[in-house]
Order: sequence, then C-alpha cells, then structure tokens
Amino acid sequence: MGTREMEEKSKQPEIKERKLKYTIKTFGCQMNVADSAEMEAHLIKRGFIFTPEREGADLILVNTCTIREMADHKAFSFVGKLKPWKEADASRVLVVTGCGVERDRKKFQKRFPYVDLLVGAKDIQSFPELLDRHLKNRFGRFDDIVPAGILDGNVEMSQMVTIMRGCNYNCTYCVVPTVRGREIYEPREKILGEVREKVAQGAREIWLLGQTVNSYKPPDPPTDDYDFSDLLTELDQVEGLKRIRFASPHPFYVTEKFARTMAACSKVCEHIHLPVQSGSNRILSAMKRNYTRETFLAALDLLRKHVPNISITTDFIVGFPGETEKEFKETLSLVEAAGLDSSFCFKYSPRPGTPAWELKDDVPNDEKNRRVNLLLELTEKEGREKARALVGSHQEVLISESKGEDIFRGKTKSSWRVRIKKPGLILGEVYEVGIKSTHSRELHGELV
Ligand code: 5AD
Ligand code: SF4
Repeated sequence: MGTREMEEKSKQPEIKERKLKYTIKTFGCQMNVADSAEMEAHLIKRGFIFTPEREGADLILVNTCTIREMADHKAFSFVGKLKPWKEADASRVLVVTGCGVERDRKKFQKRFPYVDLLVGAKDIQSFPELLDRHLKNRFGRFDDIVPAGILDGNVEMSQMVTIMRGCNYNCTYCVVPTVRGREIYEPREKILGEVREKVAQGAREIWLLGQTVNSYKPPDPPTDDYDFSDLLTELDQVEGLKRIRFASPHPFYVTEKFARTMAACSKVCEHIHLPVQSGSNRILSAMKRNYTRETFLAALDLLRKHVPNISITTDFIVGFPGETEKEFKETLSLVEAAGLDSSFCFKYSPRPGTPAWELKDDVPNDEKNRRVNLLLELTEKEGREKARALVGSHQEVLISESKGEDIFRGKTKSSWRVRIKKPGLILGEVYEVGIKSTHSRELHGELV
C-alpha cells in the first residue's frame, strides 16, 4: 500500500469498515411517514441497515412535526434525550428533519448544538445531497451507493406515493402553508412510473399523498382540465395493483366528476377521510375553510349517490377561538347528520405566525377536553353502529398482516379492519369474507 493510500485509509474512521446502522423516529402525519420512507430508502442505498435499537445505531433520524404545540414539545424532548447517545461517541450522526425544523431551525440549532444535520420539510428532496455532503466531510469518501435493486423484496404491501407537496389554502389555525409552502405537483409520468415500480417490487396497495391531494393537477398537463380524477383513472389501469387510497382530500374538490370517478375505478377504495373541522358556519368561516356545513353535507350526499357503501371519516378541531357551546353543539349535530365511521378530534392549539394566533385562545383547556371527549364518544358510538350493520355482509379483504400461523388481518375496501382465523392465507391477496361479529371497531370474519 502506498503512503497516499495509507493516508486515505487512516482518514476513514473504523466505522466505515462495518455496516453502518440507522434508526428512525417519525412524528406527525402520513406525509411525514412518506418522507421518512423516502429518506430511509436513501440511507439503505448508501449501505445503512435498519436497527430498532437506538444504542447500536450509528445514525438516528428524527422526522419532526409542528402541527400543534404538543408536537413541538414531543420533538424537542425526543431530540433533547438523544444528547447522551450522541456524546457517547462523536462519530455517531444525528439528523433532524421535517416541519419542526422548517419552522424553528434556529431554536433547534441553539438548543441542540450536537445535531449534525438539520433538514427542513421544504428541503426533503435535497436530503440525499445534504446527507452525502455531511457523510463525505465526516468519513472521507462515502460513495459506495448500493444499486436500487437491493431494495427488491423488501417492499411492504402498502406503499405511499407523494403526488403533491404544500398547500394553497390559508386555514387560519394551520401552520402547514408556512412550513411546507405553496402547492407543488409531481409530474403525472413520474407518479405513474413510481406506482408501477412499487407494484413490480411487491406493493399491492398505493396511498396517494398530498396536503389537499384532490387539488392535484400535473405541472405538465396533457390537457388543460386533467385533474386528480384523471390520475385515479390512469392508475386504476396499473396491472398488479389491487387498491388505491388517498389522503387527505379537501371538501372543495369533491365534484360530480370526482364522485363518478371513485365509483368507476374498481381499485379506488370506498373510503374517504374528508376533514371538516367544525359543524358551525361561523367557525368554518373564521377558519377560512371555503365551504359551509350545508355544502359539506351536500358533498357527502354526492359521494353516497355514486358510491353507496362509502365509509366517511373526518377531522375535527374543538375550542377554536370564540367557539360557543351552541356552535360546538352544531358540530355534534353534524356527526349525526353526516353518518361518520370515525374521526380524529383535536383541541385547538394556537400556532405562532398563523392568522388565528392573533385571536384570544379563550376556550379553557378543561372545556376543550370536555368537548373532545363528547365528540369522540359520539363518533365512536356511530362507528360501532356502522360496524354492527356490517355483520352478515360479504366483504373483499386484502390481507396485510399475519399473527402466528392462522390469524390474519386485513382491510375491507371501506377501510374496516377484519380478523380472520384460518391457516394458509397469503399476504397481499384479496379474499371474500363473510362478517360474523364485531369486537369494538374490528370485524371478525370467515372465508366465503
Ligand atoms: N390545532 C389543532 N388541530 C389542528 N389541526 C391542524 N392545525 C391545528 C391546530 N392549530 C388538525 C386539523 C387537520 C389535522 C391534520 O390537524 O384537524 O385536519
Ligand atoms: Fe392546513 Fe387548511 Fe392546508 Fe389542510 S387545507 S394543510 S388545514 S391550510
């Protein structure tokens, strides 16, 4: 070995001699889960292998969320607790990414100077370059990228594809437009290619993701009016793909064309998670949601007219500034009028920089808790009734999980979880299942 080669070698810490391990913690929504999956794929391509244990990891990636104050606390506390891990071995790499970093980069830098790399949500697509630059500075040469093929066989049955990023709305309570920026759409060819590739690798279900996913339009439209419905129609043709799901749509884009498309595309699931936030028109207007209680209910009618068995779930925020008891009751009555299968209920959390930050957060925390609990109770009750109504029906169930040799779990097209006790079922296959009973929100069934 020549002197230069020896010098080169001695520059590379011993860490480079073995397989580097990474672990990851993701906070927040499915967009973050999808971003984490993308970043993990980049780490794996660079030869990293996953470990569930923090202690043995050479790199920890924390993908943060900032949607509510609690999310900030969780991220700060998690990164704070990693200090001893990082200080125990300086060659360890700590990467913190996501919406929290996008919003509070300076705070992260100040409070956690031991973090090696901060990547904001808007820069996630630059993650590979930023990572390579860091690893190169750190470990000298670092370009032994594993060919993408190595990922084959490692693919989960259900995969996510981000089709748009950012949001053009300005809901007065929401930080997303500030942290993720305005809408950017992926080219339709890229989306189709990505879906086909994932299916070829073993995926059977695809989740299309975007902050207002059904406002999708291609940046390179083949025709001027190509929209999310046209994308669904094209994806419905992908061979080998069994199911298409999407999150989260905005009520404003639930049009006749969209409802017809959901009905016409056999792979598009009979489920929509359509965030409504409130049942009071005054609150919806103060939130700048761009629809009313009446137009929201009309959108549900339109969906049910075309997809009669559609399952509808939603998000609520209680305790928005100035929300009176009467206005909250309008939200309760919306649950009954809408016939919802389940919902996520959040307490309003004031976010600095949003228009609602200027309003007095005047609903006391105890009262917010009471409202959340009442709302949850009601939606759970509605959900249990819906589940019971499915007993005796036949459902197509896509198997996604096995427990032991003879317990399998999957989902109906309308997103109900089903448990089947029978040996020999195949993951990724669809079976016709007769629903026999319900256990809370889970259905139990037998093959037909
Ligand atoms: N406070 C409480 N909930 C919020 N959400 C968004 N911003 C806030 C906030 N400031 C909720 C909405 C949205 C979901 C992702 O998070 O219900 O649909
Ligand atoms: Fe936030 Fe409203 Fe955009 Fe949803 S539509 S991400 S709630 S601003």
